[in-house]
Amino acid sequence: MSYYDIAKQKFEALKSKKDVLILAVESSCDETSIALVKNGREVLSNIVSSQIEIHKAFGGVVPEVASRNHIKNIDGVLKEALQAAGKTLADIDAVAVVYGAGLIGALLVGVNFAKTLAYALKLPLVAVSHVHGHIGANYISHANLTPPFLCVMVSGGHTALIDVQDYCKFQLVGSTVDDSVGECFDKVARVLGLSYPGGPNIDRLAKQGKDCVKFNYKPPLQDSFNFSFSGLKTAVVNFVHNKQQKNEEFSKADVAASFQELATEEIASKAAKAGAKLGSKKMVIAGGVGANIRLREKLQKCADEHAFQLFMPDLKYCTDNAAMSGAIAYYYIQAGLGLADLTLTAKPTVAI
Ligand code: KG4
Ligand code: ZN
Repeated sequence: MSYYDIAKQKFEALKSKKDVLILAVESSCDETSIALVKNGREVLSNIVSSQIEIHKAFGGVVPEVASRNHIKNIDGVLKEALQAAGKTLADIDAVAVVYGAGLIGALLVGVNFAKTLAYALKLPLVAVSHVHGHIGANYISHANLTPPFLCVMVSGGHTALIDVQDYCKFQLVGSTVDDSVGECFDKVARVLGLSYPGGPNIDRLAKQGKDCVKFNYKPPLQDSFNFSFSGLKTAVVNFVHNKQQKNEEFSKADVAASFQELATEEIASKAAKAGAKLGSKKMVIAGGVGANIRLREKLQKCADEHAFQLFMPDLKYCTDNAAMSGAIAYYYIQAGLGLADLTLTAKPTVAI
């Protein structure tokens, strides 16, 4: 039998297997991560080797540098992940990998690594969408969470409202028409002279400031569930440049707090409206910007006001990690979705 025929048979058999142990690989940006996840909910290990210190010097992720470092790191990350879980490769039931969206060169490292492992071990290879992985982070943090729910997807690559009708049934409600909210946080941080990654630094600095700065900005697309962040980004950048050119003093903390207030309000207000329109009972946060404390507070407030139940991933599962993809891969398998053959390749974008 060919590799694919064996993998397909095993894939089918996993639907009725009591315990399914998935080895998941993530390399979509600047984190090399491998996790072992049982039954979509239990993380046995989740090793994340971050390249933040390397990319800091450039003020952002340099794709080529990220790919080269994934290659350097990935073997060691696999060894650590197995060791931390107390498992060997013989214990694994399937190999899952994020194939997109992300940086193409970075993704290719993980995809080729996962293909090689799956082929050598004669195991099913499950191709996971990065966005679905972020949603999966919530199944780890909340043992009782089940769809349907409205997902507020906020990361460096995506800003979207997604109606999650079932584990593997996703309907896009609205998304950004230009920048993602994460890009906007990172750009504002950069203009304020904060180091990469900017989002967490804005979050920290904003705590010391007040929401008192008026930018030349009007929230856009108010009659739609789509987002636009390029206007806010430009308004903050123009404000800072203007002050600098005129040699006028300004408080970076106040700029950070005022920007953060507008960005998080845009997301929270649209999420609340969409939830009300869809009649959602549950709301779920996903993605790196989901770690933002002000956004979490605001969504909690709107959940309380609109009687939604709010679910947020633990902070460590907000930003990229392999465990989240191992979680959603389990549900792909249950739904008979995601089985890939050795032609699988990386994709810079993937439809929701
Ligand atoms: O989900 P993620 O790790 O990668 C992508 O899929 O893009 O998200 C990374 C983004 C970056 O833009 C980063 O600045 C932002 O998430 N981020 C935050 C916070 N932590 C990470 N933004 C605002 N506040 C935070 N605490
Ligand atoms: Zn991500």
